[in-house]
Amino acid sequence: MSNDTLSITDNRTGSTYEIPIENDTIKATDLRQIKVNDEDFGMMSYDPAFGNTASCKSKVTFIDGEKGILRYRGYPIEQLAEKSTFLEVSSLLLNGELPNKKELEAFSHDITHHTYLHENIKKIIDSFRYDAHPMGMLMGTVAALSTFYPEAKDIFDTENNELQIKRLIAKMPTIAGFSYRHIMGLPYIYPDNELSYAGNFLNMMFKMAEAKYVPNKVIEKAIDVLFILHADHEQNCSASAMRSVGSSQPDPYSAAAAGVGALYGPLHGGANEAVLEMLAEIGSKDRIPEFIERAKKGEFRLMGFGHRVYKAYDPRAKIIKDAAHEVFEETGKNPLLDIALELERIALEDDYFVKRKLYPNVDFYSGLIYQSMGLPTSMFTVLFAIARTPGWLAQWKEMLEDPETRIARPRQVYTGYDERDYVPMSKRK
Ligand code: CMC
Repeated sequence: MSNDTLSITDNRTGSTYEIPIENDTIKATDLRQIKVNDEDFGMMSYDPAFGNTASCKSKVTFIDGEKGILRYRGYPIEQLAEKSTFLEVSSLLLNGELPNKKELEAFSHDITHHTYLHENIKKIIDSFRYDAHPMGMLMGTVAALSTFYPEAKDIFDTENNELQIKRLIAKMPTIAGFSYRHIMGLPYIYPDNELSYAGNFLNMMFKMAEAKYVPNKVIEKAIDVLFILHADHEQNCSASAMRSVGSSQPDPYSAAAAGVGALYGPLHGGANEAVLEMLAEIGSKDRIPEFIERAKKGEFRLMGFGHRVYKAYDPRAKIIKDAAHEVFEETGKNPLLDIALELERIALEDDYFVKRKLYPNVDFYSGLIYQSMGLPTSMFTVLFAIARTPGWLAQWKEMLEDPETRIARPRQVYTGYDERDYVPMSKRK
């Protein structure tokens, strides 16, 4: 008997099964042969929230949550944050290898030349209410792109996909910038193709009457690093949404709109906005113990703390914490930083958080930086979405190329009524 198998004995029948093990994993469908009788559907595994179910094989991103390791295509996040750029990382995620000089120049050129939006998209953004949340605007506008590029649904044409991928990465900052200007009641600023990806984003956010916007170098660099840190995170909620919707084979804009929706939630990308709200509510260091106690009682969650995969310090949070100091030298210290540092110190000494291995995650410090750059809290998750776009697209591309891909369609354990007869209205209680 091969050692790479799992022996399962079904005590209901006394039958034993040999299930092959590959990559420390068994195929859930191999369990289906386990039956009590011929009519039996066969055994399933129950895994709400996919806590222990691999939904795909992937070569894009590696995480070791126990050791706090994150690598894109094998490269440690620390090295990429220090030495690379967001567009280089995007190319790496999408194509599997670091681009050479010519490839990077061509990729950057293509991204830069797809930044403009169709003029009608301005009208879509105009039609949102003055107080619309920019994540809602982003989600709606990304979905609308599907109607502007109908050829995008030809997803088995690789060249066509490459064009749509570049379009989406290029246009995300423009949609974000226009959405921000809309809620601020400011005129839209068109992309400046001479600026870097991060610099152009700042231009579309903050340019006023000056003829040429010149981004602050420290802030531009910090945005680029933050984008690198957020660029991918394997099968997170929004990447799974992208893959799940993508598996029914719509165009990538429709699938990415689902990714934006998933990211919006406060348990995922929306946490960066929620952290700032929480820190503002705490208000002063002496109120921290009270909030910690409330979190321990389950009254609310300490936002920016905990992670499904990381059971050690999130490596991205470490890099962001260091980057924050450089930004604060430029912008002045965010007054909420002291509360955040003290909250982290107390939580990391507290038994409740220690036992559950709850550490600050990527969202704990990022909002403090964004706020000190002058971004309103509602824009924080939008920045996350811009940064996560190449990751979503790399996951989507990998899914399309995987011969094992089928439409995502989970099973359920039905716990409802057995068959029963329709009750006429006159006989209902
Ligand atoms: N504050 C207080 N208690 C917490 C927290 C928290 N932030 N996170 C988890 N716990 C407790 C939870 O109550 C549970 O305790 P018990 O075992 O006594 O019931 C235990 O820790 C395990 O939690 P879980 O809900 O089973 O963990 P999960 O893997 O389902 O959830 C999480 C992961 C990130 C959704 C969760 O930690 C959380 O809600 N954190 C706050 C929101 C947040 O910061 N999200 C950003 C995540 S990182 C960036 C991203 O993904 O976008």
